Amino acid sequence: MTWICFPLVTRHSSLVTNVKTFYVTTPIYYANSLPHLGHLYTMLVADAIARSKRQQGIETFFLTGTDEHGINIERAAEKNGRTPKEQADFVVTYFKQMTAAFALDTAHGGYDIFMRTTEPFHYEGVSELWRRVAKAKTPKGRDALYKGHYEGWFCAPCAAYKTEDEFAKPANADDPPTCLIHETRLDRVSEESYFFRLSDYAEALLALYDSRDFVRPEARRNEVKSFVAGGLQDLSVSRLRTSVSWGIPVPDDPNHTMYVWFDALTNYITAIGFGNEQQEKKLGFEKFWPALHVMGKDILRFHAVYLPAFLMAAGVEQPRAIVAHGMWVDPTGRKMSKTLGNTIELDVLNRFFSIDAIRYFCLREMVFGQDGRFGYENLIDRTNSDLASGLGNLSSRTLTMIHRYSDGKVPSGEIADENRLAAKRAGVDDETAIADFIAHARDEFVRYFDELAFSRALEEAWAIVARVDKMISDAKPWDLAKDASQRQTLNAVLYRAAEALRWLAITLYPVMPISASEIYRQLGLGDEVSQADPRQLRWGEFKPGAQINEVKPLFPRIDKAKTMEEIKQESGDQRSEVGGQRSEAQPRTSGAAATEGSGQHATEADAVPGVANYIDIADFAKIDLRVAEVKTAERIPKADKLLLLSVDVGEEKPRTILAGIAEYYEPESLVGRKIVIVANLKPRKLRGYESQGMLLAASVGDEGKPVIATFNEDVPNGARLK
Ligand code: MSP
Repeated sequence: MTWICFPLVTRHSSLVTNVKTFYVTTPIYYANSLPHLGHLYTMLVADAIARSKRQQGIETFFLTGTDEHGINIERAAEKNGRTPKEQADFVVTYFKQMTAAFALDTAHGGYDIFMRTTEPFHYEGVSELWRRVAKAKTPKGRDALYKGHYEGWFCAPCAAYKTEDEFAKPANADDPPTCLIHETRLDRVSEESYFFRLSDYAEALLALYDSRDFVRPEARRNEVKSFVAGGLQDLSVSRLRTSVSWGIPVPDDPNHTMYVWFDALTNYITAIGFGNEQQEKKLGFEKFWPALHVMGKDILRFHAVYLPAFLMAAGVEQPRAIVAHGMWVDPTGRKMSKTLGNTIELDVLNRFFSIDAIRYFCLREMVFGQDGRFGYENLIDRTNSDLASGLGNLSSRTLTMIHRYSDGKVPSGEIADENRLAAKRAGVDDETAIADFIAHARDEFVRYFDELAFSRALEEAWAIVARVDKMISDAKPWDLAKDASQRQTLNAVLYRAAEALRWLAITLYPVMPISASEIYRQLGLGDEVSQADPRQLRWGEFKPGAQINEVKPLFPRIDKAKTMEEIKQESGDQRSEVGGQRSEAQPRTSGAAATEGSGQHATEADAVPGVANYIDIADFAKIDLRVAEVKTAERIPKADKLLLLSVDVGEEKPRTILAGIAEYYEPESLVGRKIVIVANLKPRKLRGYESQGMLLAASVGDEGKPVIATFNEDVPNGARLK
């Protein structure tokens, strides 16, 4: 009898262990339907983990890809008049476009391999694993693989056999039962099959779960443990070629096709060279294995039970960890589905929101392991509150003040002994208080991030934002600037704010790589934020004298009412049917959210409340506000929101003005009315008309209903407002 050794490796018991390489994976997605929010989310999580490891100087390998075999792909291909490989190629194109559009591909510092199970090296590797399993004995000394006869119900979309508690009995006894997940009919399968003797592995699996936090988070580990403790049934791991031909043939028995999960789960090892010398030389199984596998809880069982059992049988080291997140549901807690019309469209996300706002929302909103609610409105609210008014505002107000009060150079934060008392009186304390606070929040961020508690980690980062905001509001730099004796106090506030921003950029980089790089650039820092390890940050290492760059808003405020309306109009327009599944329109490659006329531009006031809200009288004098009389008003075809006005500003000829008030004002009601316009606004073309000024109106309520500014007394046309 041969005895197989089961490496229950405890070498990498935590994400924070000091290792030289790191390997993280997403599931490989089915190649029968197009990418959606759920796929994007798992990629974002894995991408954030990979970036964090790379930032720490750890050589990291990040895998994503597609699962291309099996009856589902065969059926989708048939429906679309394609071969299965053509079907897979078609879907892969969309996945690659999606990853590029959301900056998750290799070119943007994202994944290292887009793994496809149709790669020849994968065939070789899976065949090698099969052969090893076929030779193996179970912990109870029996053959790990045996040939038998399978009779049962199979769900093609799940690619899994269903037991009685996993299907719904049909109303009509002659009909097949339906899958509880997909609500589709199950196939009756009755055929010869290879079986993997999973039932012999329960104890070894339970020992693995208890040896370290192999399955995370804990609630998910408990679920898996009770499933395994409840007893395991042997697993059918092949189908007759006559039933499923699109798959990898069983070595030495080509009448059988491997079970698609045996094939798919193995991709994580074949990708880096298991069973294929060339791939091994290129990447290195020894170098990168074991991996951290990230996935949704829907496929946890396959990863936490089947994969470890297969690896035990084959004598391959276990993964580093199996990490399952919750699922996105709609804002009312319902599962997202095209029938309910509550899905989140990737092209809409890509068009209306910045990549970092989406990343931030996904990681902040979902408590890792639990389900999360995703709605466009929630996304807008978080973007406006946490990003536009929070981090973005802190960044622009800090940089604006450095330009204004320190000539664009980061000042020294030193306060001489003789000035300490004055500083204290102005509410500016010893530097160590704020430095300690920020260092502690950074430590907590790193700790929570390593525990995959992203939401908690981000709360810590936002505690820094709030603390620095408070420091600025309390110290009132705009008052300090008026008092020459408080020069050092003012400088200290500016320095501390700039140093805090540097810390925030480095700490937040894995979650918000684009904005972090932008903050870094605006701060005038030359090195790469992607290479700066947050754990190595030391307070005070920002060199005084550094020249900062021009201030640009990071997160333009989103006009909620307007954007929701635009999303409503756009959603659905670009959808098409592919393989019976709803497809997403190709995401555009630009990740920028702010577009001319989209209402997403930040105003100066949005970016810098408090300090920058004050303008000089000279600034105000630049704006030429005039009284105008509406002569004609009409709607513009196909532009629901715009009115075309002709107004008399006391000039030779009336001016044309376009105003976004059509939903609230009847054109006729405006004729003869005196209004206020910005007369020296650069003319701009909209819908084929040149708008030669801008009408002033109050924006009222959540919807931003416009109420036109007007006069109670008679005023001549062209009169200037001062
Ligand atoms: N092909 C298998 C995986 C094989 S891995 C060896 C598969 N593919 S899938 O296309 O169905 O992808 C499932 C995964 O997509 C989930 O585990 C999760 O990572 C992601 N999501 C799909 N829907 C999701 C949500 N509603 N919310 C969050 N993630 C979701 O299963």
